[in-house]
Amino acid sequence: MRCFLAIELPRETRERLAALQKRLCALDREVRWTKVDQIHLTVKFLGEVPDAAVGQVCQSADAIARDHPAFDIQVSGTGCFPPRGPARIVWAGLASLPQPLIDCHKACERAFAEMGFPPENQPFHPHLTIGRVRDQRGSHKIRPALESELHFDGGRFTVKELTVFQSVLDRGGPTYTVLSRAAFQE
Ligand code: 2AM
Repeated sequence: MRCFLAIELPRETRERLAALQKRLCALDREVRWTKVDQIHLTVKFLGEVPDAAVGQVCQSADAIARDHPAFDIQVSGTGCFPPRGPARIVWAGLASLPQPLIDCHKACERAFAEMGFPPENQPFHPHLTIGRVRDQRGSHKIRPALESELHFDGGRFTVKELTVFQSVLDRGGPTYTVLSRAAFQE
């Protein structure tokens, strides 16, 4: 089962992201917008998890969340990956990186490496993927279109839970299902 750990977004932020996607409709041909109910902040992508190990993954998520305090995030600004050259992913960012988020990511890397999941070989760039580029031919339009949204305000909220998701890939796009929610310290 394909799994990842992520932070879910409150309705207010999802509404602001929907409005952002609407304002960027000039890019509709180039970008496949993520359904707002599916937008999340990935903390750790695991990939394929054997069925027998899913329980252990959820238990590890619980232990990690219990070890870290709840924290606030402010969703702010937009950009794309990679930072230069043809864009592939359009994202909304964070105004700043809360230390508990960095620590929680590190704890996930450590705990899941011990379970045999390879650690990320690139630095942690927390982001909310709001769209994926579908047509490289028009990708030069993307960065200029995002300039008017550099100060996008997606709202501030307290992250109280770390969610384990299952992702099922299909031709119509991925479907995410919540497997467990682990509470951070309050
Ligand atoms: P992305 O949004 O930046 O593509 C589910 O696929 C989530 O896991 C997505 O948020 C995706 O991030 C993230 N992810 C991280 N590494 C991944 C990988 N190697 N393959 C697929 N998804 C990955």
